[in-house]
Amino acid sequence: MFIRFFVVLIVLMTVFMVGCGYEPYQEETSPDKSIVIQTNLDSEGQFYYKVLYKGKVVIDSSTVGFEFKNIPPMKTGFEILRAKKQSDSESYELPWGEQRYVESDYNQLKIDLREKENLERKFSIIFRIFNDGIGFRYDFPKQKNIDSVVITDELTQFRLTGDHKVWWTPGDWDIYEHLNNTTKVSEIDALSKRSHSSLAQTYIPFNAVNTPVTMKTEDGIYLSFHEANLTDYADMTLLVDTENLVLTSGLVGNDFGYKVEKKTPFVTPWRTIQIAERAGDLIESNLILNLNEPNQLADISWVKPMKYVGIWWEMHLGKSSWDMASGRHGATTENAKRYIDFAAKHGFDGVLVEGWNTGWENWIGDDREGIFDFVTPYTDYDLEEVVSYANDKGVQLIMHHETSAAVSTYEQQLDTAFALCERLGINAVKTGYVGQIIPDGYYHHGQYMVRHYRKVLLKAAEHKVMVNAHEPIKDTGIRRTFPNMISREGLRGNEFNAWSSDGGNPPEHLTIIPFTRMLSGPIDFTPGIFDIKFDKYKPNNQVNTTLAHQLALYVVIYSPIQMAADLPENYEGHPAFQFIKDVGINWDETKVLDGEIGEFVTIARKERETGNWFIGSVTNENEREIAIPLSFLDKDKTYRAVIYKDAEDAHWDKNPTAYVIENKEVQNTDELKIYLAPGGGVAISVFAN
Ligand code: NOJ
Ligand code: CA
Repeated sequence: MFIRFFVVLIVLMTVFMVGCGYEPYQEETSPDKSIVIQTNLDSEGQFYYKVLYKGKVVIDSSTVGFEFKNIPPMKTGFEILRAKKQSDSESYELPWGEQRYVESDYNQLKIDLREKENLERKFSIIFRIFNDGIGFRYDFPKQKNIDSVVITDELTQFRLTGDHKVWWTPGDWDIYEHLNNTTKVSEIDALSKRSHSSLAQTYIPFNAVNTPVTMKTEDGIYLSFHEANLTDYADMTLLVDTENLVLTSGLVGNDFGYKVEKKTPFVTPWRTIQIAERAGDLIESNLILNLNEPNQLADISWVKPMKYVGIWWEMHLGKSSWDMASGRHGATTENAKRYIDFAAKHGFDGVLVEGWNTGWENWIGDDREGIFDFVTPYTDYDLEEVVSYANDKGVQLIMHHETSAAVSTYEQQLDTAFALCERLGINAVKTGYVGQIIPDGYYHHGQYMVRHYRKVLLKAAEHKVMVNAHEPIKDTGIRRTFPNMISREGLRGNEFNAWSSDGGNPPEHLTIIPFTRMLSGPIDFTPGIFDIKFDKYKPNNQVNTTLAHQLALYVVIYSPIQMAADLPENYEGHPAFQFIKDVGINWDETKVLDGEIGEFVTIARKERETGNWFIGSVTNENEREIAIPLSFLDKDKTYRAVIYKDAEDAHWDKNPTAYVIENKEVQNTDELKIYLAPGGGVAISVFAN
């Protein structure tokens, strides 16, 4: 009798405990068990997580929380209501990309938190743990005590385990066009890095860095912090506590004292950490795409990768100008036809024409509102005639919408602007946002603009137009969901070499970008400058790489649209131009063969349809000998390789255009040994037939 009573008591107690809540400690691993997430509540009821890689802590106990306008913060006093695990494994096909098929394999841990007292508000944290990193996001369900919220701060911490080496750009609210700095985390001093493009606004309110920000630990592990699926929220910069080595989310705000406004239910973007043992594995990782939603556009037959030329570099060099009043107008009917002829002759798909519409006389400065209407051509540019000329030659025109950051005007014009594209059969637009955002009080990277960029993307999709955004919001993998988001700038592109007063991009630039900015997505860098010194136009500026390095960028930098940026006259008759004509634009596979951040990187990509491979390698200011094993080629098959490499005496400054072309038969057992000059590179076409 007594024993029976005891058993019943134990059963009752268990039922009671389960009903009361979950064990605060929760743990989950990646499918291959290399990454472990441990979570718990501290004595104050604040949630924290930890990340381990192969048994070692890589992110130490880091707390999360939110602060709001007019209501108490959600930080402490939580209990766990529920913890749920789930796994998913799938493979999906990309319409265009670095590879055709992507594997997505993760374990998920979802933890539902509720305040124990007072308002009993709730939110969940969802962790997805892949073999190459983790993502986590906050999920605010619909609930009685929160309807709409105004977030003044998100308090997501990333507590580092050492003073890692870090490649960073300042957490600018307006522009990503900054050079990377290489320091220790404790040495990050973003506030002193205000040098920027003369065309762009710069606003760095805190000692914060932009993402992706990449680090290397003492143990040689690579970590990169970023975000995925930035939708209707603010860009996350990372505030740096240089003493305690803690990064905390610093959302981009506005002049109205808040960061984000939301209505429940809502989810935040994913906060991501890529973890790799080889620097190249960061590039091969698909974490960011895997944390985005599948394609939502029904028909995407009009989304097509392409190579293009354009009336562009000549303006940056000062050979011509965007505006007509100068008397040196670049976008004339005649000049556009010259570019169309050139494109048709050499097999380029598109021609970009900048400066075609009225308003460029006032495009920089305070009085920018309403200067562009995106439909009125200058009188010396016959838009209809140019389009029909291009059609006859089988070439696409690429529309240009420089908004001058007058966003309010652009939004009013969107319908007419995109209707014009559709009527003319133009399926690509390059947008631009030079200057300070109009209306006042907003910044390029805040929620207001995140909404705007998405609105433009969706409007473009309605009219079957692909978007290549300059001065964009950073990429967070949205291209998976909206494949018309074809490329963007969001870094110091080649244009800086044409006019930047700081001497342009140093030779190391493109040995860092693949491991930082490029982890977020495609880059419209506009490579391929052959006239490296362009003394005829700008004796005080130059490109700080060799010509072979410029060629290599078509492989090293990923974008489904690539420009041959130099003037047609610099390509015509140039033997190295053949590489730009041959190089693939859409890939079945990508392999990062070797590389070290800031030193060099070697990438091989296999072209869709043809099975040809293209290899690119670039080095920083140091010369080096690299080995390229060709083991990725098919067995027992002979390929024809054309190697475009630096001459022995090439040098980015002293002798940048010295290069050699070598033809060779190769097989998968071969290993190429190649010399890269200071600031140099190599580009190789490997033809399957
Ligand atoms: C800045 C862009 O990056 C560049 O490509 C463009 O030519 C100018 N803005 C003018 O729109
Ligand atoms: Ca720019």
